[in-house]
Amino acid sequence: MKETKLPRSTPLKKYASLLTQARHLPKYAGPLALNLFLMNLAMAAQPLVPPSPNPTPSAARRGELISLVRQDCGSCHGMTLKGGLGPALLPETLKDKPPESLQATILHGRPGTAMPPWQRFLTEAETSWIVAQLQKGFPDEK
Ligand code: HEC
Repeated sequence: MKETKLPRSTPLKKYASLLTQARHLPKYAGPLALNLFLMNLAMAAQPLVPPSPNPTPSAARRGELISLVRQDCGSCHGMTLKGGLGPALLPETLKDKPPESLQATILHGRPGTAMPPWQRFLTEAETSWIVAQLQKGFPDEK
């Protein structure tokens, strides 16, 4: 039997031949492929360790969150958070409640009650920070 000799083909040559075959492809195919390639690179460049899901908000943002809770939440929960239209948000009333469920209440509100959802204004990390502060005694505005 005659030995079939395979043409020596480097991956680069293969790629080049693919490109020539691809000439009938629409004009955007080239830029598109380049884009996909760059996207892959960008994705590969992501840090291996994902950022902590609940990073502490910056000092400036913490100041804003304190005002938000004292004023907006305070309009229902009382300016000193001792309760009003909504229940008290003090350490003694919240400390034994699971933080996840308090966070869910804040982010999604309680349908059928006056408690509105805050997810358009607060991230999960910020909500988690607020719950932690409420459970240990909420800081005063500066
Ligand atoms: C318009 C009034 C209103 C505003 C504003 C409001 N709440 Fe509420 N909130 C309520 C009411 C009413 C309830 C009780 C719902 C129920 O009956 O289950 C509640 C419940 C809660 C609870 C659950 C308490 C528990 O003991 O389970 C938390 C936590 C809470 N609110 C946090 C907040 C935070 C934080 C904000 C501001 C970002 C806020 N609320 C703003 C009315 C309000």
